[in-house]
Amino acid sequence: MSKSNPPRTILITGATGGIGGALAKVYAEPGNTLILQGRNAARLAELTALCETQGARVLTQVLDVCKLDELSGWLKEICQLEKVDLVIVNAGVNTNIGPEGKGERWEDVQNLIQVNVLAAMATVDAVLPSMRSCGDGQIALVSSLAAYFGLAVTPSYCASKAAIKAYGEALQGWLGPEGIRINVVMPGYVESQMCTDMPGPKPFLWSAEKAARYIKCGLARNQSRISFPFPLNLGTWFLAVLHPWISVRILRLLNYSG
Ligand SMILES: NC(=O)c1ccc[n+]([C@@H]2O[C@H](COP(=O)([O-])OP(=O)(O)OC[C@H]3O[C@@H](n4cnc5c(N)ncnc54)[C@H](OP(=O)(O)O)[C@@H]3O)[C@@H](O)[C@H]2O)c1
Repeated sequence: MSKSNPPRTILITGATGGIGGALAKVYAEPGNTLILQGRNAARLAELTALCETQGARVLTQVLDVCKLDELSGWLKEICQLEKVDLVIVNAGVNTNIGPEGKGERWEDVQNLIQVNVLAAMATVDAVLPSMRSCGDGQIALVSSLAAYFGLAVTPSYCASKAAIKAYGEALQGWLGPEGIRINVVMPGYVESQMCTDMPGPKPFLWSAEKAARYIKCGLARNQSRISFPFPLNLGTWFLAVLHPWISVRILRLLNYSG
């Protein structure tokens, strides 16, 4: 776990959402440049005004991350103009099997994989060359506690977050010796539109502000895994340790089966 100076230029994808917006606010201070991406231009403008009031310099980009070439082109360009210290790969979507367990729509599954997996990897791919050339930089990949064990109500989401967890862990091994810090962020339930739309119980729900402060602290310490809240982290981690036959039954008892 190696520490370094606090990041001065921070790029956040999905900054228009609950967690992304809260992260922008906790990093908004004099001397910091925030590079914020989202699709919702009005929300982006609102957030910019707020972060500027807190003293930050703000650059924004309205972009659909599913357009991988556009995403990659924008990131490569911004990395030539700014020395980006920290990239928080946060944009994400969720789907579920519906109230009657009918199943996820295939179009939604494809979009989810595009946003949660391909766009996340495309983001890393585009920012890595400049970070590697100067042997410095930090990338936080936002996964989820849902990465530990698949939940019946959100199969594709869990699969996508497990992919990002494994990807981030692999990058830690590969890029750590080069001085690039990679962190896997695994939130439990955090207040946001995505969380509201998700079916099932939401124990130990955190506010987005609390989550953002916790993530910032974990990133400053360069924790390889930033997972929270503690009781849910322990419980979901344990589901992965147990035999799946038992875990599936525990989840059914806890009403997580849709
Ligand atoms: N909230 C939770 O309980 C929870 C738990 C574990 C992990 N997470 C993860 O935390 C991250 C943030 O989620 P959140 O809770 O803050 O959800 P949210 O409020 O719904 O925000 C999602 C963000 O992703 C952006 N986004 C989605 N599709 C996009 C696309 N095609 N192109 C560009 N941007 C796109 C949204 O932008 P626009 O709104 O501008 O379209 C928004 O900024 C996600 O990766 C999520 O999986 C959340």
